[in-house]
Amino acid sequence: MNMRSSYCGLVEPSLIDSDVTLCGWVDRRRDHGGVIFIDLRDREGIVQVVFDPDAGEHFNTADSVRGEYVLRVTGRVRARTEATINPEMKTGMLEVYATAVEILNTSETPPFQLDEHTKVGEDVRLQYRYLDLRRPEMQQNLYFRSKVTSIIRNCLDDGGFLDIETPILTRATPEGARDYLVPSRTHGGKFFALPQSPQLFKQLLMVSGFDRYYQIAKCFRDEDLRADRQPEFTQIDIEASFISEQEIMKVTENMLRELFTQLMEVDLGDFPVMAYAEAMQRFGSDKPDLRIPLELVDVKDLMLEVDFKVFSGPANDPAGRVTALKVPGGNKISRKQIDGYTKFVSIYGARGLAYIKVNDKTDLEEGLQSPIVKFLPNEVRQQLLDRLEAENGDLIFFGADSSKVVSEALGALRCKLGEDLNLYTSAWAPLWVVDFPMFEKAGNDEWTSLHHPFTQPACSAEELLADPGAALSQAYDMILNGTELGGGSIRIHQQPLQKAVFKILSIGENEQQEKFGFLLDALNYGCPPHGGLAFGLDRIVMLMVDAESIRDVIAFPKTQSAQCLMTDAPGAVANDQLQELNIRLREKITE
Ligand code: AMO
Ligand code: AMP
Repeated sequence: MNMRSSYCGLVEPSLIDSDVTLCGWVDRRRDHGGVIFIDLRDREGIVQVVFDPDAGEHFNTADSVRGEYVLRVTGRVRARTEATINPEMKTGMLEVYATAVEILNTSETPPFQLDEHTKVGEDVRLQYRYLDLRRPEMQQNLYFRSKVTSIIRNCLDDGGFLDIETPILTRATPEGARDYLVPSRTHGGKFFALPQSPQLFKQLLMVSGFDRYYQIAKCFRDEDLRADRQPEFTQIDIEASFISEQEIMKVTENMLRELFTQLMEVDLGDFPVMAYAEAMQRFGSDKPDLRIPLELVDVKDLMLEVDFKVFSGPANDPAGRVTALKVPGGNKISRKQIDGYTKFVSIYGARGLAYIKVNDKTDLEEGLQSPIVKFLPNEVRQQLLDRLEAENGDLIFFGADSSKVVSEALGALRCKLGEDLNLYTSAWAPLWVVDFPMFEKAGNDEWTSLHHPFTQPACSAEELLADPGAALSQAYDMILNGTELGGGSIRIHQQPLQKAVFKILSIGENEQQEKFGFLLDALNYGCPPHGGLAFGLDRIVMLMVDAESIRDVIAFPKTQSAQCLMTDAPGAVANDQLQELNIRLREKITE
């Protein structure tokens, strides 16, 4: 005999007048003068169960239960009277008139009421995560996540992609973060690294001829955490051989569109494609949020000779940028708010936030309200207003500094204004960003990869070596609402080019052999041209369910300081375990 006949949340009107057996948790118990109401909850929802004294000993049992007890209830489904229908509940038009109840397990008083979880800090919720996960929002998020992976698997299976697992205990796979290391017992003093991504293995699978691969893969990165980052996260990792940049973009774009139509009935349409340089220029970001209609407008050429060093300095510096951001109707923004925004941009290194309020654009002397306008000759004022197509009532912000600082600061300000002033023009704005530079400056004369070192440049090895800073890559990022959902590239499949890239990255011959010898060898044994992409699964789900934090879409996440409060990991280990590993701890070095 089945232990239950239905989920609580799935008791529906067609079951009225029939008997059901339900199992679930006591969400709430109310005593209404001789009648006991129990809201019984399972993953599908809640149903109201009614006990009256006719239920005999079962009535007494029902009377004794407390919140979060686990019950098995048998009873008859009946319609509620008009006055007692609860339109807020999926099962609000009916109730179960109980004839029997069995307590399957008791529960201590939980450390927080599930529907009052906001009253306790997130640390308490994370410590009792198994209870926190009983909350309907969390159940829905993880349910949704499971739907996402199932649709993705179907799409990729249909597309001929093979699901192949790659190792967790491996060597470093550079993606720009620190590695999590695992000491080896059998090889004293040596360490495995947990994969930052399956990057090298998926490339090697292409060398082996598997042609189309995917994996829903755990990745590990020891990096500073933010609302959309976890040290342990999941990628939808994809790789294919004999495929062009356009083809891989099409396959993965179709997959995303499919997700949104199937799960949200949203048509994302065709994704626009934008070059990195254009994204930086117009939006100050390589992951622009295209829901926001504001754009940066460069005014460097107007500021070359003004008597204001803050502007003329960067204007005359080839690495400088002077740009303006117009907020239509923004002169309602108060002085206090502007001070707030000035503080906000300082996070990105901006040393100030000049502005002009356009009160009357026909009066260049009195009509512009600003701490800096006095430094600008009238003709510059006029040119500014013309270029920005400013209207009365507009506010114009300025950033002047190195290109990097200005783009980051005003790019972030643009997003903040979009949010604060609710300027969004659409719910969803996806795009591809392409034509990234291969490298960016890491220090004096050092280069680092903008993506990873296995990315194919859009030029020859000779051109690359001659001017690394000018080289573009065959990489592409998928952006949705200002979040990078995924990124990938066509890969280097020939050894000389791979070695040239390592050389530019100051990875010498010995280090190349030691760290990547297996890859360099493989490239010489008939490596096909190939490329791929990886999506951040957690981020996709986070955006789709509109979660505030990535933690809300992961069953057992880590805290902001990379800890698991429930299991208290990372934890100390016994001395004999350390001894086996040939490890002796020294006192913690504090910086
Ligand atoms: P990348 O480093 O851009 O590329 O990672 C791909 C996607 O993974 C997600 N992501 C994260 N999600 C949560 N927490 C993190 N700490 C985190 N780091 C990354 C992002 C990101 O877009 N091997 C390449 C892909 C390739 O070239 O095929 C890679 O890992 O959504
Ligand atoms: P100051 O000369 O420091 O009094 O600055 C005059 C105005 O210019 C103030 O509104 C500052 O916020 C602004 N400002 C200062 N430095 C910068 C900068 N690098 N970019 C944009 N505005 C700035």
